[in-house]
Amino acid sequence: STELRELLLAHIRDVPDYPEPGVVFKDITPLLADPPAFGALVDALAALCARHGATKVVGLEARGFILAAPAAVRAGVGFVPIRKAGKLPGAVHGQAYQLEYGTAEIEVHTDAFAPEDRVLVIDDVLATGGTAEASLGLIRRAGATIAGLAVLLELSFLGGRERLAPVLADAPLDALITV
Ligand code: PRP
Ligand code: MG
Repeated sequence: STELRELLLAHIRDVPDYPEPGVVFKDITPLLADPPAFGALVDALAALCARHGATKVVGLEARGFILAAPAAVRAGVGFVPIRKAGKLPGAVHGQAYQLEYGTAEIEVHTDAFAPEDRVLVIDDVLATGGTAEASLGLIRRAGATIAGLAVLLELSFLGGRERLAPVLADAPLDALITV
């Protein structure tokens, strides 16, 4: 709703020239510090979970964890972390992906999902879509179905939605705020 969007937007702070000159960083820490706004955000993400019939919520390290874990609890489904490489103790699937400079790698436990699981992936920001794309591949390799991808903030000028369209196939991409 417009009301929710305005509440959330009012608690996201623009930080110019971070992490480098010319970039305007979207800082969500004021939102996390405000119980009504954070609560409304978690409720909205949990509602998406129910709407899309998700049986698990995946959070993407690190900022995705902050939103995904409370949403999973609120929706009454399990939480699964996708972590930066080397942090999970069990057997993992790994996926490298492109950063602005260089590459990164993320991992998920091979036994994180049952074959019938439908997974809602939650992250704070969709930018180029590289992180989300890698996570969708990992979840499929771990044997589960993608129920959807939900983000707090979509930076549409970076083209993530277009990049993810063929990867998501029929799964929905929900952005609570698009700029
Ligand atoms: C940020 C953000 C998203 C990702 C979006 O994470 O939290 O996960 O970038 O960018 P993309 O769509 O171009 O992949 P970052 O890797 O900076 O680290 P953090 O979440 O651990 O802070
Ligand atoms: Mg992140």
